[in-house]
Amino acid sequence: MCGIMGYVGPQEAGPILVDGLKRLEYRGYDSAGVAVTNGSINVRKAQGKIANLEDMLEVEPLVGSIGIGHTRWATHGAPTDANAHPHTDPSGEFVVVHNGIIENFQSLREQLAADGSEFTSETDSEVLAHLVAREYDGDLVEAVRKAVALSDGAYAMVVMSKREPRKIVAVRKISPLVVGLGDGETFLASDIPAVLHHTRDFLIIEDDELVVVTEDGATVETIDGEPVDRDAIHVTWDAEQAEKGGYEHFMLKEINEQPAVVTETLAGRLDEDGTVWLEDVDFGDDYAAAIDRVWITACGTAYHAGLIGQEIFRRILRLPTNVEYAHELRYADPIVGPNELTIAISQSGETADTLAAARLAGDNGSRMLAITNVVGSTLSRYADDILYTRAGPEISVASTKAYMAMLIAQYLLALRIGAARGTVNAELAARVSHGLHQMPAALEEVLRREPEALAAAELIRSAEDVYFIGRGLDYAIAMEGSLKLKEISYLHSEAMPAGELKHGTLALITDGVPVVVMLTQRDVYDKTISAVQEVKARGGAVIAVAYDTDTEIDKYADLVLRIPDMEDLMAPVAAVIPLQLMAYHVARLRDNDIDQPRNLAKSVTVE
Ligand code: M6R
Repeated sequence: MCGIMGYVGPQEAGPILVDGLKRLEYRGYDSAGVAVTNGSINVRKAQGKIANLEDMLEVEPLVGSIGIGHTRWATHGAPTDANAHPHTDPSGEFVVVHNGIIENFQSLREQLAADGSEFTSETDSEVLAHLVAREYDGDLVEAVRKAVALSDGAYAMVVMSKREPRKIVAVRKISPLVVGLGDGETFLASDIPAVLHHTRDFLIIEDDELVVVTEDGATVETIDGEPVDRDAIHVTWDAEQAEKGGYEHFMLKEINEQPAVVTETLAGRLDEDGTVWLEDVDFGDDYAAAIDRVWITACGTAYHAGLIGQEIFRRILRLPTNVEYAHELRYADPIVGPNELTIAISQSGETADTLAAARLAGDNGSRMLAITNVVGSTLSRYADDILYTRAGPEISVASTKAYMAMLIAQYLLALRIGAARGTVNAELAARVSHGLHQMPAALEEVLRREPEALAAAELIRSAEDVYFIGRGLDYAIAMEGSLKLKEISYLHSEAMPAGELKHGTLALITDGVPVVVMLTQRDVYDKTISAVQEVKARGGAVIAVAYDTDTEIDKYADLVLRIPDMEDLMAPVAAVIPLQLMAYHVARLRDNDIDQPRNLAKSVTVE
């Protein structure tokens, strides 16, 4: 996710801003920039690493003791110099940095352009600078307030103007923002680690609040102008803990970010009635209606996300869909062809096998749609259509929040294709939309149940082998739960369709062998319970993932990980979280290196 820095005080702002941005590098970014006011506003920004920005500042230094800075992780527009923040209005009197997404930026941009505004970037953020300038009438706070009222979305914005040169105005609408209180100087940042070496006293800005920062401190108010009396907190974490947001590991932080990731992936893309807007998916209804088959290709966790996509596409689109490991598909004698849509899924967009499979599909006449988390990645550059997952940078090698966003992206895609093909009716579209919009709250609830996952982890921490079973969508989730467990806990684990157990693996189920059973698919519930009984009869220890209202499972399970009741079609989104948490806690109890598991890399760029 992007990083924000701001400084007002007696010192030169430039070096402080750059230093703060460097301390946010762990979050990932693809360009960086700073703006400093000194009579006029001067901006320096550069694509790539902060070192590029530093080189630029060496040649053309900035002088001034108030400024704002940003590291950008591209969402709208490629990672270029022009798209890097800060962005100014055409007069250069107002400058903005921004995290998050302005959902209605396209219509705002069109209105502003119609009034004569000329834009120098492809970003949604630049619109904010133009809006603040247009609304300015002698009061920067009022102008910011008006701009915010016009801008839908989840974001944080920071504004500086030469008209009111000793203040920074910032707003939080979901994306994080903190104020660091120094002695005669004040800092602003998206994250505490950026300024922890300057101060340990912070004001945490909450959603829908506006803060005015000067060298004397900060005043907080609601976006409607009501004063807010906010006490400073004193942070005792060290810098490393602060990077992890106070969590012990990035993996746990990223698991906990998943409700926000769902919100972000959906932002501006899904109406209540199920109408979907996918900004970089360019095919028309005619193309969608003529698709004969969908191929999904990916590796690892992304492949498991594809298994969910396969089920969704088959069920609600009634569209033949095959999911293939990319390393297999690339050597399959070309079986993909025209009138077939290939969906390549990759968090990094750089996985060598996935790139090769995507190319193979494209070379054989298939249209290629990329679902990826990284704007400008190789996969995105190769694709005909792109669906960015917007999960933000994922640091832990074990993928969690990126997987979550891949699932949400595929529901959106299914609605989009289903509307064109007439296979998703209005009632189903509205139901799925409702389920997706309710999902962040449901996920928060699942996360509150972490102690259940810890209890399950205690049960399996010393096992030799762990088995995961389920049917349909539950099988797809079982696959992901098993991979998560093995990659960080180093326990052997295997997943299989529940019906497959009795065809061989049952021979391995003896006293105390843990079997994790997924029970969110009501149409096959009784069938799955039969498999559970087979396990119990051999003395296996059953850990179930089941709905709150499922009382039947209490008869058989040694432990139940509960999720709130919801539509079966959407249950995988919630059901994966207890499995992620269980894997996390097993690895923690076994004292493993959770974020950097042995032998694994975050991005597998070799074959
Ligand atoms: O970047 P990608 O999504 O293409 O990566 C694919 C796999 O290497 C990745 O999902 C891997 O399986 C993860 N470590 C699983 O947590």
